[in-house]
Amino acid sequence: MKGIILAGGSGTRLAPSTHGVNKHLLAVYDKPMIYYPLSVLMLGGIRDILIISTADDIPRFQKVLGDGSAFGIRLHYMEQADPNGIPEAFILAEDFIGYDDVTLILGDNIFYGQGFTSLFRKALKNHQHATIFGSRVKDPERFGVIAFDDNQKVISLEEKPEDPKSDFAAAGLYIYDYRAVQIAKQLPYSGRGETEITDLNREYLKWHQLEVQLLGRGFAWMDAGTHEALFEAAEFVKITQQRQGFKIACLEEIAYYMGYISRETLRQKGESMKKTDYGQYLIEIANRKHTEQYWETIDKNPILELVQNE
Ligand code: DAU
Repeated sequence: MKGIILAGGSGTRLAPSTHGVNKHLLAVYDKPMIYYPLSVLMLGGIRDILIISTADDIPRFQKVLGDGSAFGIRLHYMEQADPNGIPEAFILAEDFIGYDDVTLILGDNIFYGQGFTSLFRKALKNHQHATIFGSRVKDPERFGVIAFDDNQKVISLEEKPEDPKSDFAAAGLYIYDYRAVQIAKQLPYSGRGETEITDLNREYLKWHQLEVQLLGRGFAWMDAGTHEALFEAAEFVKITQQRQGFKIACLEEIAYYMGYISRETLRQKGESMKKTDYGQYLIEIANRKHTEQYWETIDKNPILELVQNE
């Protein structure tokens, strides 16, 4: 399974904050936005990840994330010259994907909730052709909208419809087989001058090869693409972290529990940022004695399960 994070675009909906910096490097409370989608792929056990962005911004991502070795993963970078649409990611990534399956996550999407890792990993394991994730929202007209019949079968997919047929939005997380590349090449441009991921999904739907995994009440899904949404996402992260004492999307923590980096590396990383709460958090984890018991008290640890199963 390969992973792609789409982190290009011009960030016009977040101007002027994005005049000097790529949207996905803006902070969502205490860490850059791209940490959140990257954490999802890492929790899924995906270690070969392509970050697609603009030529100007790639060096900035490299400064923040490097080649991924600090997190025990392999990061590759590729330029998207213009924001021609989400499906272009597959065309650009053709060689990277080869004949593998591929998970795409949008760089401004944040997923959180107890059991999300298990749900995502199950979806990866059971995935056949195309799997997308649906979530109930208050403003479906802002998203790709999924409509179902009485038997929960998908009957339509529409991109930002004026008159949505349901309250279920397609989240920015998609799992496909390698055929997504060829489908992407044949998509028409939509009214907004881009190819649409919804059109790609519609192709799989036509062949009865589209699975929809619904995210229930216990999950938070947000896109941080407007000032309001970014602020709300930051508030959510701050409050959740403070209440629970766990950090959301802490890449070093995930790498450590996945067995990708050592306790010593984790401690050193913490020391290098020790003036921050983030650094202190890493040091605290590195100092814990009974890692496994600790996880068992909060949840059945999907991270350890993954390590044990491999
Ligand atoms: O967030 C989920 C929604 O994302 C889905 O429900 C929609 O079906 C899907 O079309 C998409 O809608 P958006 O209008 O939010 O997409 P947006 O143009 O904002 O792009 C999403 C992210 O992908 C954003 O972080 C910028 C990046 N992007 C987008 C395009 C079109 C690129 O890097 N390159 C692109 O060409």
